Order: sequence, then C-alpha cells, then structure tokens
Amino acid sequence: SASHAGPASPDPPTLGPVIFNPYDYAFHEDPYPTYRRLREEAPVYHNPDLEFWALSRHADVVAAFRDNTRLSSANGVSLDPSAYGPNAHKVMSFLAMDDPRHMRMRRLVSKGFTPRRVADLEERILELTLRYLEPAVGAREFDWISEFAGKLPMDVISELMGVPESDRNEIRRLADLVVHREEGVLDVPVAAMEASLHLVGYYADMLAERRKKETSDLTSALLAAEIDGDRLTDDEIIGFMFLMVVAGNETTTKLLGNALYWGAHNKSEVAQVLRDPARAPQWVEETLRYDTSSQIVARTAVADIELHDATIPAGGKVLLLIGSANRDSDVFDTAADFRIGRDSSQKIASFGGGVHFCLGAHLARLEANIALEQFARRVADYEIDEDRCERVHSTNVRGFAALPVEVTERH
Ligand code: HEM
Repeated sequence: SASHAGPASPDPPTLGPVIFNPYDYAFHEDPYPTYRRLREEAPVYHNPDLEFWALSRHADVVAAFRDNTRLSSANGVSLDPSAYGPNAHKVMSFLAMDDPRHMRMRRLVSKGFTPRRVADLEERILELTLRYLEPAVGAREFDWISEFAGKLPMDVISELMGVPESDRNEIRRLADLVVHREEGVLDVPVAAMEASLHLVGYYADMLAERRKKETSDLTSALLAAEIDGDRLTDDEIIGFMFLMVVAGNETTTKLLGNALYWGAHNKSEVAQVLRDPARAPQWVEETLRYDTSSQIVARTAVADIELHDATIPAGGKVLLLIGSANRDSDVFDTAADFRIGRDSSQKIASFGGGVHFCLGAHLARLEANIALEQFARRVADYEIDEDRCERVHSTNVRGFAALPVEVTERH
C-alpha cells in the first residue's frame, strides 16, 4: 500500500531550491542538512522575504569575519532587531561597533580583562563547579541546565566583576530575564527590558562603590584602565559588563548542554573521557565544532560584494553561518561525525574571527574544561531523557533549556 516504502524509485527525488529560514522550528531540530545544501547549492544564499543573505562555506565565513571594510557590525550582529530594548543608548557594546571606535574600547577593556586575570580564576571556577555539581550528581537524576550549566557561567562572570556572593542569585535571575524571549515573538519582552534596567542600575552602583574604594576585581581594573590618558566612561564600562552577560552567559550554558547531549549520542567517543577525565578539553573542542552554541552572527554590507557569481548589494544584511562552516568537509574530515581528539581548535569558526574574535574564548574553554573534567571524574556513565529535553528557539543561540540526565556514579 501507499503507506509502505515501495521499491526504490528509478529517479532520485527532485528537491526544490533550498529554503533557509532561521526562525523555522523544524530547522532548529536539525539545521545541518540545510547547511549542507546551502554550502553545495547556494553558497551565497538570498532570502528575499526575510531580506538577508547567508554565507555557509568555511572559507567564506572566515573571510567575512576578516572583511571589516565591506562588512559592518554597527547595525548589530543579530538578524533580530534591537537585542537590548529601550536602554540601548546606555549599552555601549563594542560587539556592535566598527573600528576605530571598536578598537579603542576593546583595547581599554583588554587592559583589565587579561588572559592572566582569567587564568587566575581557575581555582574559583573549580570551587563554583563543585558547589553545583556535587549535590546534582549525588542526587543521580537532575536537570543539567537548571542545576548546573545554567548557573555556573553567570556566577563566574559575577566572580570576575566582584559581585558579592549574596547578590549572585538575583544577578543570575536578572541576566536570564535579559536574554529570555517569548517563543515566536520578535519584540523584546517587557520583563527583559525591566531586568536590563535593573542590571544597569546595579552595575552603576557597583562602579560608584569602587570609585570610593578600589578592589582587586575586574570592575576596579576597568575603572583604572588607561591608554595615553584615555579612559572608559561609566556608561562604557556598564556596556561591557552587559556585553559579558549577553555574549558570555547563555552561550557557555548552551555549550555545556550540547556537550552532554552529543556525548550521550556518541557513547564510544565520550567513554574515552569518562575513562580519562584529563581528555575533557577534547570533548569541549569537538562540541564547539560539531554543534556550537552561537550559530549565526550578522553583518551589514557597506559596499557591493561579488562572490560565487552573486552580488550582495550594499546595505544587505549578511548572515555568517558558523555552525555550517564547522561542518564543511573541505576543512574537516568526516565532518558529520562527532569525534573527540581532532586537531581542530585553530580551524573552528565558533568564536568568530578577525578584530571581533571572542574576547571570552579562553574563559569559556577554561570553564567548560573544568566542568566536564569534574563531571567525568564523578560519573561512570550517564543517560539523557530525550523526550524531556527542551530546545531553545533562537536565530543565533543553539542549545537546550532543559536537559534531564541520570548518572551512574563512579566508585
Ligand atoms: C564575541 C562566541 C563566550 C565575550 C564573540 C563572537 C562569537 C562569540 C562568535 C564574535 C561575534 C561577532 O564577530 O560579531 C562565543 C561562544 C562562547 C562565548 C560560542 C561560549 C561557548 C564568551 C564569554 C565572554 C564572551 C564567556 C566573556 C565573559 C565576548 C565579547 C565579544 C565576543 C566581549 C565581542 C568582542 C568584540 O566585538 O571585539 N563571542 N562567546 N564570550 N564574546 Fe564570546
């Protein structure tokens, strides 16, 4: 009967032209078949309804990250309109600036946000990791996101900035509200706008306190940062604090979730880490390649761009498909397979490239390495409850809002 698969049809099925809609929930379920078709059939894809262009090949995405003359960040780096809401004027995010404004701020911020400061956090990250991980693993069944992955990254950012322990739960609650979006609604929800204002107010108070009494945290370091007499204004420092909340919190939470999810789907790979927890960084690295948490960033063309027989006109919105670049078989062998131990950290597009290369890449890696190493030290095996996993639906962030796991403890 028609409901049964008959003999193979003589002609291959004819597919229509590839359609890529970053808002489509079916696309979120598994974007990789669409990415593959884009790379093969439409490397300069144009969606006239949503008014964007998209680059999907590794070489083109990497080149676009470096092409700051023709591709601007100043109109925002998301497909969606205003990510921040009404206080955007206060939030001076250098993520959404072009050079020389961007470079000036990034250099000043980098005086405080140094690799050394991040490396010095290692002990504290371990303590924070164990605080949440030990009771969760002890309970054997828990939600990896709500009990662990959703807590650690924002607490680490608070630690860095010097937010006292007693305020961190509230700060985390506000930070989660700031990025929270209603399913299917593009406008920034009122609760997110209110939370933004609260956070901005909180950080402004913190700055005022640090002015009176200097401390050893990042907040004081940013106040002290100076290059040839030039300093950051309070609004700029608050803008950066906010940028960490928006760019460094949810992305790291989702990375930790994706690692556990794909680990459960690739048991023989992750068994190597569960046997030898020191290999946790390889698990992290492959998750960053295979299913990264920041999938798409946007640019605006400021000149006509000719590429692969197409022309992206000046003014066009251009999406850089990071998740697709990371699966390009021109660059990665067996790109569709989850394989730990690849030597791919220099090639993955997960942290962008060029002048806007993720400032927190070393922090994200440090946190995820510690978290997964400690997980592997305590866990002999684990299962996820596939039916109760919940995906977030976003045009750029990829990962889970809920990820129930059951662990078998090591003895
Ligand atoms: C920029 C990804 C974690 C701070 C970026 C960009 C990407 C990215 C793709 C480039 C955006 C663009 O070119 O438009 C990620 C991922 C993370 C992560 C996947 C976690 C897995 C963090 C953390 C922090 C952070 C933990 C800080 C606490 C920043 C900042 C920028 C940035 C400040 C802007 C840099 C600039 O414009 O010069 N990130 N990020 N990120 N990220 Fe991250």
